Amino acid sequence: MLTPDQIARYQRDGFLALPDFKSADESAALRARAGQLVDGFDPASSKTIFTTNEQLRAVDRYFLDSATRSRCFFEEEAFDAQGQLKQAKALSINKIGHAMHDLDPVFDAFSRGPALDALARDLGLAEPQLWQSMYIFKQAGIGGEVGWHQDATFFDSSPISVTTFWFALEDATLYNGCLWVEPGGHLGPLRERFVRNGDVVTMEKLDATPWPDSKTAVPLEAKAGTLLVFHGLLPHYSAPNRSAHSRHAYTLHVTDGRSVYAPTNWIQRGADLPVRGFV
Ligand code: FE2
Repeated sequence: MLTPDQIARYQRDGFLALPDFKSADESAALRARAGQLVDGFDPASSKTIFTTNEQLRAVDRYFLDSATRSRCFFEEEAFDAQGQLKQAKALSINKIGHAMHDLDPVFDAFSRGPALDALARDLGLAEPQLWQSMYIFKQAGIGGEVGWHQDATFFDSSPISVTTFWFALEDATLYNGCLWVEPGGHLGPLRERFVRNGDVVTMEKLDATPWPDSKTAVPLEAKAGTLLVFHGLLPHYSAPNRSAHSRHAYTLHVTDGRSVYAPTNWIQRGADLPVRGFV
């Protein structure tokens, strides 16, 4: 489905925007289902937050078990000094992760199909394997920053094959924390590796190449329905959302089954929930 020009741009820049990939109805269905999952979430069950600023602090049993479940994580700024939510629960969740695509029929339907399968193949994923789904709320006012990183840090394989599918469910703008990327930055090295040994997770420093700055980074504003695909080595970032508008997005992380998926990746699948492709 991609043109030769689109494939060439992807290979040059490390990312590609595909406007109107999802219909308004499809996005609305996923948003509604995410709302139901949050409604059913008991905040007393966990106050685990998701923050990339102190990534390892947020790693606990609740987080590790979410590799094969659907779990809600709070925004870092959701609580006051007394530990109470500052706003309604539905406006306090940072994300839901990380296996909804295999556990929930609505997420499954959004995450799979012939169009995505064809796209994956055009991007070089001969045997797509969907390891992770995340529903990201980027809440109005308190949506947290996601610091510069490369997704291959979390999905190591030999050779590196992880590719990110990032669906805008609402308009992503400069004001509500759209993605920033470094065009061509996927041609650089992997800087860090998130390594799991049992229940212990560490971040290994691999390369001292600095992260992009305002001279090399560009914002990727995206209308609702747009699919951004990007290479696992592409450095990307998103600012805090201080605006009055949320910035919901949904992501899938996909490797090529021909590459060797590292046994030290934090998400592993067993025979009870085998990793699957787009169809
Ligand atoms: Fe990322």
